[in-house]
Amino acid sequence: MPNSIILKKKLNNFNKKIIVPGDKSLSIRWILFSSLANGVSTAKNLLMSEDVLAAINAIKKLGIKVKINRNICKIYGKGVNGYIYKKNLVINAQNSGTLGRLILGLIINTPFPIKLIGDKSLSKRDFKRISDPLSKFGASFKLRKNKFLPLIINGSKNLKSINYYENKGSAQCKSAVIFGGIKAKGETTVKAKKSRNHTELLCKYLKLPIKIQKKGDWDIIKVNQVKKIKKINYNVPADISSSAFFIVLTVLSENSKLIIKNVNINPSRVGIVTILKKMGANIIFKNTKNYKGEKNADIHVSSSKSLKPINCPSNLNSSAIDEFLVIFLVAAKAKGVSKFKNLGELNKKESPRLKWGQKILKKIGIKTELKNDSIKIFGNPNIKIKKKIIIKDYLKDHRVFMTSIIAGLSFGGSWTIHNKDSIKTSFPNFLKIVNDLKK
Ligand code: S3P
Repeated sequence: MPNSIILKKKLNNFNKKIIVPGDKSLSIRWILFSSLANGVSTAKNLLMSEDVLAAINAIKKLGIKVKINRNICKIYGKGVNGYIYKKNLVINAQNSGTLGRLILGLIINTPFPIKLIGDKSLSKRDFKRISDPLSKFGASFKLRKNKFLPLIINGSKNLKSINYYENKGSAQCKSAVIFGGIKAKGETTVKAKKSRNHTELLCKYLKLPIKIQKKGDWDIIKVNQVKKIKKINYNVPADISSSAFFIVLTVLSENSKLIIKNVNINPSRVGIVTILKKMGANIIFKNTKNYKGEKNADIHVSSSKSLKPINCPSNLNSSAIDEFLVIFLVAAKAKGVSKFKNLGELNKKESPRLKWGQKILKKIGIKTELKNDSIKIFGNPNIKIKKKIIIKDYLKDHRVFMTSIIAGLSFGGSWTIHNKDSIKTSFPNFLKIVNDLKK
């Protein structure tokens, strides 16, 4: 099984400083904004993963020149309406929901129909949630079974602004509509349940006509048509969602300490830290800096002697949405019953992750109760795995793979985890960092 990993040993007693690759959401957004800018934008530390390379290929197909030299990426933007391409264009978003959804906002005025395709996992995910609001601008869509990829978008030259109510807490839906709003005449208004706000912060940094009003758990975003975007030079900070695996590993290991350098700690992304701290984890941010509208810091984390269960407030769900699988591992070791609710969106990711969370917990001998979109986890502070565990057929969901590795390193047992190539989606050097911690 060349594409599998065999794991047999726990990992304890490390004291290390690590560098995690660039943030995936910011990398993809930088590529998309730079493709609309006038001039050459340059990024350092862009995440070099399959999702991000798919975004680069997508803008190349739209006629935008891109040069990559080691750690530096340059994008030669030709303006807000500068895409040039031939008829019968097909864009492949591969595994990336963020690319597949956001790009539709950018090509909403396409003069020719464009076909959007994706891999097996992306082809199971809902694209009606994007085509519905984007149709209101004046574009039209044809989706497989009215909901799925492949889809064909027919653009409109006369886009009109819209009012959109986003109630899932989906940053992808919100961002696709903001991109549509950038292209449409007049003022587009989005009332959005709070979710990661990188798109809005980049718009503000670029001084685009956007206004944001905070109203409790909601944001009212008003965006006007944009004529020009200046080039963006960007140094991409590390990804908190990738850091999450090593934060949890350190929390669960004995006698260990870890520093993760220059991680994006945008408040809309740090739900995992808030949740783990409530459970008794030792995590601190040091060396906090503001960077082009975002906040970055070094994360210092150390082993936790005892962990408390949590009744997780659902207003933290969106800011931890990609981290619940590893958060569940911490709940597995807490003394008592943890409760998580309103997690329906988790089952709409690269794999049905709420179900996978339960499956992994069951395999490691932890009792759970799953009801609709809520889960109760009956933690065991003395958890030790002795049996053989096999993880396969998980739609190559990168986060299922990495969570399984962290479970094996934290709790022991003999693991065979298939499809190690799945990490190429978001964190290609994940296993190298694991090996460096062993040295
Ligand atoms: C993302 C938004 C989230 C998240 C995904 C990245 C983004 O998805 O799960 O990994 O970059 O906008 P939803 O918008 O579907 O919640």
